[in-house]
Amino acid sequence: MPKSERPRAPLAQDPTLELTLRPEVFEEYVGQKQAKENLLIAIQAARLREGTLDHILLHGPAGIGKTTLAHLIAKHMTATMRVTSGPAIERVGDLASILTNLEPGEVLFIDEAHRLPRMVEEVLYPAMEARTLDIILGKGTAARTLQLNLPPFTLIAATTRVGLLSSPLRSRFGQAFRLDFYTDDEIEEILGRSARLLGVSLDAQAKKRIAKAARQTPRIANRLLKRARDVAQVEGGTKSPNIDDVTTERTLSMLEIDEKGLDKLDREYLRILIEKFKGGPAGIQALAASLSEEEDTLLDFVEPYLMQIGYVLRTPRGRVAAAEAWEHLGLKPPDNRNTKLF
Ligand SMILES: Nc1ncnc2c1ncn2[C@@H]1O[C@H](COP(=O)(O)OP(=O)(O)OP(=O)(O)O)[C@@H](O)[C@H]1O
Ligand SMILES: [Mg+2]
Repeated sequence: MPKSERPRAPLAQDPTLELTLRPEVFEEYVGQKQAKENLLIAIQAARLREGTLDHILLHGPAGIGKTTLAHLIAKHMTATMRVTSGPAIERVGDLASILTNLEPGEVLFIDEAHRLPRMVEEVLYPAMEARTLDIILGKGTAARTLQLNLPPFTLIAATTRVGLLSSPLRSRFGQAFRLDFYTDDEIEEILGRSARLLGVSLDAQAKKRIAKAARQTPRIANRLLKRARDVAQVEGGTKSPNIDDVTTERTLSMLEIDEKGLDKLDREYLRILIEKFKGGPAGIQALAASLSEEEDTLLDFVEPYLMQIGYVLRTPRGRVAAAEAWEHLGLKPPDNRNTKLF
């Protein structure tokens, strides 16, 4: 099986798990204080006006809570939310039919907005700005534009790659929030809640260890918790297992996840960058080719966290491994290597 088809265990989505553990109210949504505060005010104001919210852009790494937050916003607006995604809207007609079927006040959620085709984006501009839909009928000199009015609606777009959105699209959002990685304390809080919902007991040491390995990402924390529950359940032979530190350690080593939360692919990435490219700078294409991985996998799932912890730096000439990355693999960084220079 080509490497790119390999499931990345902790990141692959598990719909049932995500639904049961997804916060239902803002109070349960941990962290992201700035986004939450601003959104709550905007929601209150819109409700007082009996109007709709401005269009909202949510961006940030995978598994960080964008979709969850979109659901919470719609819920607090007591609005129905229609869900679609960039790659699902292939043609202008697809978007036109979604928009013309919206009921007044509804929320339209477009996930992976960076993958909207350019032609479709162009139809979105007037829809977002003036609530009109311009449809071109016919071709050449016989072409006519038909303008339809749309009901008031709120577009919530989510993306892991805000840099790929065109600037006209970006500028049409009334508010944009970057959701960031979580602190260990926040991840522990999420784990505590998830353990309660799953009906398992999780001791303090185990909680700390899972939080440290969760790449500061709620989805991964929940995923690791569930794996640890499986191990505890099988080993303890009980229905309501207790997850302790030993179980957790074993679970992580079974998943080949180290104490920093790095998995095999992350370590392979670092090894290639260091051994093959002498620590860099190396281009993303060259790295992807050497790893037989998709560039997108590296950009979405591998690099954000390696950069977040300072193991990899992005420079104009390519990716560079910091001294910590060498040390993580048990290698001695070259003496002349001063990463501050890059
Ligand atoms: N702030 C939070 N508090 C508690 N749990 C959270 C929070 N954010 C995310 N989660 C949990 O993590 C899971 C993944 O979050 P979500 O699906 O919203 O991520 P996402 O940013 O949309 O990811 P992707 O980019 O892959 O679509 C949720 O189902 C939820 O259980
Ligand atoms: Mg999502």
